Amino acid sequence: VQPSIDLFAAIEGLKKSLNAVVLAHYYQEPDIQDVADYIGDSLGLSQKAAHTDADVIVFAGVHFMAETAKILNPDKLVLLPDLNAGCSLADSCPAAEFAQFKAAHADHVVVSYINCTAEIKAMSDIICTSSNAVKIVNQIPADQPIIFAPDRNLGRYVMQQTGRELLLWQGSCIVHETFSEKKIVQLQMQYPEADVIAHPECEESVLQKAKFVGSTTALLQYVQQSDTAQFIVVTEPGIIHQMQKQVPHKLFIPAPPQANCACNECPHMRLNTLEKLYLAMKHRQPEITLPEAVRQAALRPIQQMLKMSA
Ligand code: 13P
Ligand code: SF4
Repeated sequence: VQPSIDLFAAIEGLKKSLNAVVLAHYYQEPDIQDVADYIGDSLGLSQKAAHTDADVIVFAGVHFMAETAKILNPDKLVLLPDLNAGCSLADSCPAAEFAQFKAAHADHVVVSYINCTAEIKAMSDIICTSSNAVKIVNQIPADQPIIFAPDRNLGRYVMQQTGRELLLWQGSCIVHETFSEKKIVQLQMQYPEADVIAHPECEESVLQKAKFVGSTTALLQYVQQSDTAQFIVVTEPGIIHQMQKQVPHKLFIPAPPQANCACNECPHMRLNTLEKLYLAMKHRQPEITLPEAVRQAALRPIQQMLKMSA
């Protein structure tokens, strides 16, 4: 990319010429958030993808998110700026091993967190996100055994919130497991007025320190509505860009990683850059594709989620 190109203007031009919509997750770098037509959590992004009339969806997020958009829109071109933008949760649940696990518990309904591959979705009965997992599990008859995959931390949180026993797949998010209780306690001593707010992908010891637990959208709404002026934010710090834009007079303190970890940014999400987004639109690639049989099988539990969270 030539340094003289105004990427913001060029992307706006390409949006018009391609009839494209740019959907971005809150963990994207600030420039990408600023150029997006819609920024949201996983549920909001999939609802938006389900209803767009654009011809091209440019997904600034990770692979499973763009894949979900493609499952919902087989006839649209779905672009992901960097095809290597994966997810440790999706990686932690390989299809062949999960098929064996499911077969060993054939009487269980399978509820899968949206952070999984299309193959895992295709083996699931209902998809959920961090913002509707409790609501969805609460709608399943009480005597129905449930497998919950792949995030053991969200699964444990849902068990606590619903009082249900869930058979958990033992996956986790490398970013949210980076936060430590000890570091949060140190920050609380430094900022005694601050509320700790955390994402349910964090470990139990961290969530116990939180005044509020929720999806990225729920965390954003919380800081807007709360009377508190300071927050210790225990999730990927990309969300702080929106928090500062919405309530600039408040203070947001990103929770630091453990001593032996370099950074609390998601290395997968941050593979996308404004330059790669521009190039993806210019060259109409990299494109998300998937086998039609897998797509159709994965569509059913996503539609079920959209129905149950309406
Ligand atoms: P939500 O934005 O749905 O809360 O998900 C967080 C996350 O880790 C996405 O990968
Ligand atoms: Fe996956 Fe965690 Fe990154 Fe979200 S933050 S994309 S769950 S690795």
